[in-house]
Formats: sequence, C-alpha cells, structure tokens
Amino acid sequence: MERLESKIDTTSHSFGEQVDQYRQILETFHGKMDRVLSGGGEKAIKKHRERGKLLVRERIEQLTDEQTPFLELSPLAANDQYEDAFPSAGIVTGIGLIEGREAVIVANDATVKGGTYIRETIRKHVRAQEVAMENHLPVVYMVDSGGVFLPEQSRVFPDKEDFGRLFRNQAQMSARGIPQISIVMGSCTAGGAYVPAMSDETIIVRNQGTIFIGGPPLVKAATGEEVTDEELGGAEVHTRISGVADHMAEDDQDALRICRDIFKGLPRPYKEPMDIQPAREPRYDARELYGLAPIDLKKPIDAREIIMRIVDDSSIQEFKKDYGTTLVTAFSRIMGYPVGILANNGVIHGETARKGAHFIELCQYRKIPLIFLQNISGFIVGKKYEQEGIARDGAKLIHAVANANVPKFTVIFGGSFGAGNYAMAGRAYDPRLLLMWPNAKISVMGGEQAASVLTSIREAQLKKAGKTPEDKEIQDFRQKMLERYEYEGSAYYSTSRVWDDGIIDPVDTRKVLAMGIALARNAPFEEPRNGIFRM
Ligand code: COA
Repeated sequence: MERLESKIDTTSHSFGEQVDQYRQILETFHGKMDRVLSGGGEKAIKKHRERGKLLVRERIEQLTDEQTPFLELSPLAANDQYEDAFPSAGIVTGIGLIEGREAVIVANDATVKGGTYIRETIRKHVRAQEVAMENHLPVVYMVDSGGVFLPEQSRVFPDKEDFGRLFRNQAQMSARGIPQISIVMGSCTAGGAYVPAMSDETIIVRNQGTIFIGGPPLVKAATGEEVTDEELGGAEVHTRISGVADHMAEDDQDALRICRDIFKGLPRPYKEPMDIQPAREPRYDARELYGLAPIDLKKPIDAREIIMRIVDDSSIQEFKKDYGTTLVTAFSRIMGYPVGILANNGVIHGETARKGAHFIELCQYRKIPLIFLQNISGFIVGKKYEQEGIARDGAKLIHAVANANVPKFTVIFGGSFGAGNYAMAGRAYDPRLLLMWPNAKISVMGGEQAASVLTSIREAQLKKAGKTPEDKEIQDFRQKMLERYEYEGSAYYSTSRVWDDGIIDPVDTRKVLAMGIALARNAPFEEPRNGIFRM
C-alpha cells in the first residue's frame, strides 16, 4: 500500500480561516442536537419522571453495555417542521451492544406528544427495521406511544410505507429468524398493540404498561362498557389472563434487566469471515477535515486529502490511478477492516464511470465492503460526450452500484447532485448507512444551475405570451430559486425528512464506518450478480 502524503499547508492563513468557519457550522449542528436530545420539554419530562419512568435515552443507556457507543440514526428528523414540536420525531432509533451483541433499538419518546407517530416517526421506525433486516440484527422495541398522531392521519395511515408497514416488517423479520423483543413501558394503543403482540417475547411494566386495541374512551363510546386502563390492558391482565405479554417487570430498570437476560440466551450471531488486521490510526489528524470539507463547492478538493484522514495508516492501494481521474478508486482499511473506496474528484466522465463499475466488480467478487465518498456535481454534459455515449457508460456504473451486494456505505462530504447521487450509492441504492457532513448539500442540481434553467424557461414563457420580461422580474425570480435551492438542498432539510441516517461530525466518519462494517458482518455477504452492461 502507498502512504499518502498531504499537499495541504495546514499552517496557512486560508486553512485556519476555513477551520474557524467550520467550527461555526459545527456550533449550529451541536446546537440543534442539544435541543433535540432533551426531548419534549420541561413540563412533559416532569410528568414522565413523576410516573417513575426513565427518559428514552436513559432507557437506552441502561439497556446497552457500559462504555459502549450507541449509533443513533436520524436524531434531527422532523427538525424545523411541525413548528419543532417533534424533537427527533418522537422516537429514538439506533444500534447498540446488548450483552456483547449488536442490536437495533426502537424506542418511543413519550414526552413528545405522547410518543405518537407522524410521517418521520414512521420513516425512522421502518428504517430501523430495514437496518435490522439487512444486517440480521435482533430488535428491541421500547414501547411508550399513543399510536398515530391523529391530526396527521392522512399522511401516515394507508400507504405502503406507512404505519401498517411496521407490523408487516415484524412478521417478515420473524420469518427470517430475527429475534424481536418488546418492552411495554407505557401506552400501546390501537395498531401499536401489535408491536408487542407480534414480538417473540414481551415484557410489560406493572402499573405502567398497557396494551389495548381500543382504549377506555373508545370502548365506552362503542359499547357503553366502563373500564379502567389497568382492567382493559395492564400488566396483570396480559401476563395472567390474556397471555399477550410474557414477563411482568416491577419498573423500567427491572424490565431492562429482564431484556438483557433474554439476550444472554439468544443463539450466537453469525459473523462473515473477513481478513481483519490490527487497526492503525491515520497519520493525519481527523480534525484537519474541518479545514478541507468543501464548504464552497466551487473550490476543488483532492479526495485523497479526505481519504488519508479516515483510513488506517493513511495508506491506500489505488486502482487505475491515472485513468478516469475524476474518481479515486482504492483498496484500503478502516479500523482493520478491508474496504474499497470510491471518492469523487470531479465530474463523472465516460472513463470515470467505466473505472468505477470495474472497481465495484472487483470488490464484489472479493467480498470487500464499498465506501462511497460523495462530492459530485453530476455527469459531464455536452455534444462531444453524448456522442461518445456518456449515458451508456453512466448506466454501467449505476448498474454496478445497484447490483453490488456487498455492504455499501455512503458519506456525503460535499455536494450530491443529480444522477451523481445515484451513481455514488445515494439512498435509492440501499447503502447500509448514508451519512452527511453538516456542510453537505443535496439536490437534483446545484442552486445556480437550477436557477439558470428555470430562469430561461420563465423568460421563454413570458416571451411566448408576448410579454417582454423586465430585468428586475427575472432577477427576483432567479434570486427566489437560488434561496429555495439553498434551503431545500441543506443537510438539515435532508435529515429532517429522513433521506439519510443522520448528520455526523467529520471526525467521527472513521468510527461510524467501522461500526457499520462490524454490524454488517452479522449477515452473510451475498454472491456477486450483475445485470446486462450496455457495451
Ligand atoms: N394524536 C394526537 N395527539 C395525541 C395523541 C394522538 N393519538 N395522543 C396523545 N396526543 C397528544 C396530546 O394531545 C398531548 O398534546 P399536548 O402536549 O400538545 O397537550 C400530548 O400528546 C400528550 O398527551 P397526554 O394525554 O397529555 O399525555 P399522557 O402521557 O397522559 O397520555 C397517551 C399519553 C398516549 C396515553 C394518551 O394521550 C392517549 O391515550 N392518547 C390517545 C391514544 C389513542 O387512542 N390512539 C389511537 C391512535 S391509532
């Protein structure tokens, strides 16, 4: 392997200036994170505590092994939507270690509108189940939820990926032998009742957990019967009479202990054999990424400068170094795991796409996980390139990415635009994790380009209608488009809608990728397969 040497002067004034600028970006990011980590506000937290309950993140901390990290997914979901009334969309999802075993945790936050589900809550819940299915990980559901957030019912109830998907996924995971444990720590109403009912084993907390298809007000309205929560679906009812739950716990702590005991008895997980070497730290400080992250997307950055601050010993074995140079393809290691890296170094040309497709095939046949580092404005355009068949070559890369069935991981460290997003394993291509740096931008094209395209369409429309567009009118229109793309293209807009698995601090990239590979080893890597490449 070749040890990469940085060509960046980290002592220069301009580097220092960008680091300062990046620290402000991080301040905004951490500010947003701090606000959501405290949950649904003082009043709701006080009420929750007075009921003797632990807060959602305390529950997760006590369930997972001491001193081990919890990889939280999409904590900024629903941020800046719904008047910010749904921190983290009222649900905490992620991957942690329980009794030494990786597990997905899906935990309602009852301090956020009673733990009810809006669209983003469902997206997070379903996404966590997908992570469990792809990586064959057991799931713990910590249930404390009033079900669907009723004012939003039309956006969460009937469609394929809506509320019903939660239970369909549970059934399919069960059929695949994925263990699922529910801990009922609060309300579990209507459709939500199926979460514990469809789990392998269910724990319910005495005088606190309830499971029912229709709550007391609904029962009264429907049949006139008057009944209390406990009589209808409390822990005593479900562990002694109905059999809907299997273990009764005295309180949250006791429930978590029972869950850990269940984990001790689960069969040992499969681990995909890999050539794992001792981890070696990169020879460059990861904090230098702050000075390199493309804040200004017009400023080119050699992707090797990013790679050398993420990979072991800052060493890579580059593939086709001098061919298709706008994509760096390289074998390397992250925390000892072998990886194949594809990192953008400019616009995708025909030879770039062919090189990428070839490299993906190599990794597929060698069963090496793929890491996509995205900073891509798209494919090359123009008569010459169309005539050379850029669409045909681009199609090869998209074919290879879509069919690559080794675990894929995507980090958007700069821009992610147009078909470049697809060719570099965007969300639609099933990366096991898709993470964004806080400076990242994502949209169908860059704001400037979109504003220009839309402005010229607008001008043509006005001319067709016999109007001469005023300069100011065109400028105002252009400015409006630019602002809209700026807003909708931000990493926060993306993560709020759960188009990614979360925004990460660049210094955590290496650690998060290594965790991703570690958990991917729980499912066998599939045999390679390809479609028809247009030659
Ligand atoms: N839809 C919309 N909002 C709901 C809701 C629902 N299903 N369930 C609770 N909320 C809201 C409440 O209006 C309240 O909002 P606020 O903070 O703006 O005042 C907040 O969530 C907390 O509810 P509250 O009843 O004060 O808290 P609680 O902890 O005492 O009880 C529940 C929580 C979930 C047990 C209780 O609200 C409940 O039973 N909700 C109805 C559940 C139901 O029938 N769901 C069927 C939907 S499929």
